[in-house]
Amino acid sequence: MIDGKKSLFSGMQATGTITLGNYLGALKNWVNIDQNEYKCFYSVVDMHSITVRQDPAELRKRARSLFALYIAAGLDPEENCIYYQSHVSAHAELMWILNCFTYMGEMNRMTQFKDKSKKHPENINTGLFTYPVLMAADILLYQSDVVPVGIDQMQHLEITRDIAERFNHIYGDVFTIPEAYLGKTGTKIMSLQEPTKKMSKSDENANAHILLLDEPDVIMRKFKKAVTDSDACIAYSEDKPGVKNLIDIYCAISGKKTQEAVAEFEGKGYGDLKKIVGETVVEELRPIQERYNDLMKNKDYLNQMIKDNGEKANYYATKTLRKVQHKVGFPDRIR
Ligand code: TRP
Repeated sequence: MIDGKKSLFSGMQATGTITLGNYLGALKNWVNIDQNEYKCFYSVVDMHSITVRQDPAELRKRARSLFALYIAAGLDPEENCIYYQSHVSAHAELMWILNCFTYMGEMNRMTQFKDKSKKHPENINTGLFTYPVLMAADILLYQSDVVPVGIDQMQHLEITRDIAERFNHIYGDVFTIPEAYLGKTGTKIMSLQEPTKKMSKSDENANAHILLLDEPDVIMRKFKKAVTDSDACIAYSEDKPGVKNLIDIYCAISGKKTQEAVAEFEGKGYGDLKKIVGETVVEELRPIQERYNDLMKNKDYLNQMIKDNGEKANYYATKTLRKVQHKVGFPDRIR
């Protein structure tokens, strides 16, 4: 709890422009969270990003772009704490302490570590190995009650709970034990080219994903090329993954139920389906892109938000960090 509200934390990596999948699976749901009930912290987790090699200028640019996208998508930066992870040094400091309460065996089990090591065999660094501990620090610093995460991050949330419980067991109630936030469950959006695979920005085929800043004609073209199947019947079923994905996208944006959408498309062909879904996406993203472009031009405002929110995040994070430092036996600061 923070200021009488439940505390909520989430973050996204600043690697590349986010996709329609990230937006519908996460960001759009964040925007709908009731701010009277939750005190929300949304971080641009740039420290996690350097577990794989980054071009410095590019990372800086992407981090700023993601920060602006959070706001453009509808997160009010006066109501929510939106900040860069690297601007709050408590993340690194708490991580060190938590490292000393995390076992090699636990980290060895992490499936994301195994996957990423396979993908980058030339750079299996210890940051990649302890990535989940930094994530635990993110979450625990803000005494988070709930964490909206996708299924691929559940294992990391579990380990966060284990570390927090282990620490509390030794030192008393220091950390809130976080739970997964299962609001309106985020839809898992699949690749437009291989609809059995998750839509991913790292996909080499640009037609496989819609980026949040794609121009309308690019969006329409990608939907036109979307893979469906060889019969021509619009139905929602597991053995029609391409069509199912298009309907899922349509429903996630329009708020319509699957049945409703399927009825609407009855008698229509795949060409119509792709066109309607494409147009729906274009209209959903248009105001976001406009706000984004304004924000990127309004440097002073954006800088002010970065500064103010960084200070806010520092305030709450430092409070927890000092408590933890005292518990483990570090000498108190002399004031
Ligand atoms: N690892 C998360 C991802 O790649 C991002 C992240 C970092 C995060 N710290 C977090 C998500 C804390 C939730 C809570 O998606």
